[in-house]
Amino acid sequence: MQKTTIFLVLFIAFSFYSFWVYTDGTNTASTTMSEKAIHGKVLYQKYNCTACHQIYGLGGYLGAELTDILSKPGRNPEFLKAMIQSGARQMPQYGLTDDECDDLIAFIQYVNDCSPNYKKSR
Ligand code: HEC
Repeated sequence: MQKTTIFLVLFIAFSFYSFWVYTDGTNTASTTMSEKAIHGKVLYQKYNCTACHQIYGLGGYLGAELTDILSKPGRNPEFLKAMIQSGARQMPQYGLTDDECDDLIAFIQYVNDCSPNYKKSR
């Protein structure tokens, strides 16, 4: 009898928790990717930015971690655009168009906005 009660309590707790995780946890309404950001992600993969930059800690270590780069002091889309467009020392110059740079930045902005607590949790 007691075992049945414990089982039921755990089962109900599990059900509520699962319901919460799978309804709220997967709520992506506020983090839907724009067309520009999606294209930026494709470019990020095409030019293999991951070879030197990390997102969520994954990637090469020659360049900076880009996950929350736009939340860092002194960083803004204009600064990033200048970096991506002209390159710097070991950062290659890809000869990207204005639109391509904007799309890449839209992607980096998207990642940044999805991870407001990333820095704190490191
Ligand atoms: C060969 C390695 C390499 C590749 C590939 C590379 N980067 Fe970089 N990147 C660097 C390095 C090194 C720096 C730092 C340059 C400096 O500070 O002089 C940098 C800097 C940057 C910055 C500025 C970071 C900051 O601190 O504000 C951005 C943004 C950036 N890269 C984006 C990209 C994007 C987008 C791509 C792909 C299109 C890319 N990088 C590909 C090496 C690389």
